[in-house]
Amino acid sequence: MKGIIMSGGRGTRLYPTTKSVSKQLLPIYDKPLIYYPLSVLMLAEIRDILIITTPHDLELYKELLEDGSRIGINISYAVQESPGGLAQAFIIGEDFIGDESVCFILGDNVFYGRDLTLILERAKKELDGAVIFGYPVKDPTAFGVVETDNDGRVISIEEKPAVPKSDLAVPGLYFYDNSVVEIAKGIVPSARGELEITAVNEEYLKRGKLKAELLGRGMAWLDTGTPDSMLKASQFIKAVQDMQGFYISCIEEIAWRRGFITKEQMLGIGESLRNTDYGRYLLSLGDAGYGDEV
Ligand code: G1P
Repeated sequence: MKGIIMSGGRGTRLYPTTKSVSKQLLPIYDKPLIYYPLSVLMLAEIRDILIITTPHDLELYKELLEDGSRIGINISYAVQESPGGLAQAFIIGEDFIGDESVCFILGDNVFYGRDLTLILERAKKELDGAVIFGYPVKDPTAFGVVETDNDGRVISIEEKPAVPKSDLAVPGLYFYDNSVVEIAKGIVPSARGELEITAVNEEYLKRGKLKAELLGRGMAWLDTGTPDSMLKASQFIKAVQDMQGFYISCIEEIAWRRGFITKEQMLGIGESLRNTDYGRYLLSLGDAGYGDEV
């Protein structure tokens, strides 16, 4: 399975901050936002990852993450020339996807929860068409919204409905089989001129191949679209990290615990960051047992 992180967009709701820099490079507390979705793909044991971004931001991403080999993964990059919608990712990434299935995650989505790894493993293993998720929120109108019956079967999915049919927002994490490329090529742009991810999911629904899994209590899905929500996400990450002493979405730690890199390689990165808490955290893991919870 391949992984794609969609990290385009102009982040207009965060202007002036994002006028000159991509939102997903800004920090959520102590690390760049893109580390969070990247770590989700790594937890799903996906090691071939394509980052799609704007022509303007491409070099900055390359500078940050390089080719991924430092953390034992392969990162490649592609450009979305103009905001043509999330589903354009599968057309841009057609060659990268090849004949494999794909996990698609938005560069500004933060997930945290004890069962996350299990949920990812299950979605990967049981994939037959598409798997999306439903997460209860107070106001779903800003999101894709999925309606399910009592057995969890999808009845409808709508993009930012004025009158939502349920309170289940669809987070920016999707699993697709290889037909996603052909499906993305067949959908028509929405009223705002974009190839919507919801249109892709609607097509899977039509084919009887859309599954929605409920992400319930105990799982945090954090939105990062506005200054307030970025601050709240930072506060959440800081609170959990301070309390537990474990870092959330520390990509070097995940790479080590998953066996993508050796302990020595991880400690080497820690050493190079020794003057930060982040680096000292990595160094402190030298004494931790292999297999401790990530
Ligand atoms: C996108 C999707 C929406 C989804 C959301 C999750 O919306 O179109 O279906 O619920 O991401 O973050 P955007 O936030 O790009 O407007």
